[in-house]
Amino acid sequence: MIDSFGRDINYLRLSVTDLCNLKCTYCMPEKGIAKKGRKEILRLETIEGIARSAVKLGIRKIRLTGGEPLVRNGIIEVIRNIAQLKNQGLKDLGLTTNGILLKDCADQLKMAGLTRVNISIDSLDSRKYAKITRGGNVSDVFAGIQAAKEAKLWPLKLNVVLIGGFNDNEIEEFVGMTMEEDIEVRFIELMPLGEASIWDQENFLASTEILKRVPRLIPLPFKGHGSVARLYKLPNSKGKVGIISPLSSHFCNYCNRIRITPDGKLKPCLHSNVELDIQNYGENLEQFLYDGIKAKPFRHCIQGDGYVPILRNMNEIGG
Ligand code: GTP
Ligand code: 5AD
Ligand code: SF4
Repeated sequence: MIDSFGRDINYLRLSVTDLCNLKCTYCMPEKGIAKKGRKEILRLETIEGIARSAVKLGIRKIRLTGGEPLVRNGIIEVIRNIAQLKNQGLKDLGLTTNGILLKDCADQLKMAGLTRVNISIDSLDSRKYAKITRGGNVSDVFAGIQAAKEAKLWPLKLNVVLIGGFNDNEIEEFVGMTMEEDIEVRFIELMPLGEASIWDQENFLASTEILKRVPRLIPLPFKGHGSVARLYKLPNSKGKVGIISPLSSHFCNYCNRIRITPDGKLKPCLHSNVELDIQNYGENLEQFLYDGIKAKPFRHCIQGDGYVPILRNMNEIGG
C-alpha cells in the first residue's frame, strides 16, 4: 500500500511481547518492567489476524520483535500460522532476537516457516556483555548464532549497537568476523529513546567512526527502498558490514515500515509519539492498518527542529 508521500509500505514489525530475558542498559530500567496483565497484551490470535490483514494490504515482509520474542509462550505456533501467509504474498518472515534462547529452538523455528533471524550482540567480551545486558552470558549467544547457521536461518545478521567508551574498541574484531563467514555485521547508532535518552553525549558515536577505524571497507551499491543499512565489505571477505545511521543520515525517504506494539498500538514512525489504538477498531484490522499507513509522517525528528522526546523504551516498541 502506498502512503501519503508515495512510499510503498510493505514491511510490518510486529512486537509480540515487551518482556525480555535481558535488561540492556540502554533499553530497560534496572528494576526491570512490570509484567502486563493478559488483557493488556495482544492475544496470539489477534497477532495472527493483524498479519493476515497486513498481507492483504500489501505487506510482504513481517518481522517479529520484542522485548525478546522467544520468551512469548506459543511463539512457534504463531510463526507456523503466519508462515502460511507465504501462499498469499508474504515473502519474508524474520525475527529479531538477543539469541539467548536460540540454541534450543532454531530448528523448530526453521521448521515452523521462519525465514531468518537478526541477532543482537553488543560485545564479544563476556564481562562487557554481562555488563551491558545486566547479567547475560555471551556464550549463549554464540551457541545461538551457531544453531541459527546450522538451521539455515539465512541470511544471518548480527546487530551491534555502537556505544562510545564501551564497544568502540571492538569495531575491528566485529568487522573481522565477516572475513571468513557469510554473515552481515551491522553497527547501529544508539538512538536517544527511553532509557538511552538521558545518556551522556559521548556515548552516542556517529557510525562514520566505523569507516575511520576500518578504512579498507569497500562500499557496496545502495539498495534504496526499505534498507536501513549502508553496506560495505572487506576485500575478499565472505560476509558484509552494515551501517545503520538513523541519526547522522536518516533514511525516512526510503522508509517502508509500520510497527505494532505488544499492547496493540500502531506506530506509523519509530520516532514519533503518534499511536493508533487497536481498541478503537474492533474486528476491523484492515482499517486499523490502513489508517496507520496513511498517518505515516514524512520524516522523523530525533534531533534538531521539531524534536520530541520518545516516551517509550525500545522493549515496548520492538526496535
Ligand atoms: P532486515 O529485515 O534484516 O533489514 O532487518 P531490520 O534492520 O529492518 O530489523 P532489525 O530488527 O534487525 O533492526 C535493526 C536496527 O534498525 C534496530 O536498532 C532498529 O531499531 C533499527 N531500525 C529498524 N527500522 C527502523 C526505522 O524505521 N527507523 C529507525 N530509525 N531505525 C530503525
Ligand atoms: N538505539 C539503537 N538500537 C537500539 N536497540 C534497542 N534500543 C536501541 C537504541 N536506543 C536495538 C537492539 C536490537 C534492535 C532491535 O534494536 O539492540 O539490536
Ligand atoms: Fe532485551 Fe533487546 Fe532490550 Fe536488550 S535491547 S533488553 S535484548 S529487548
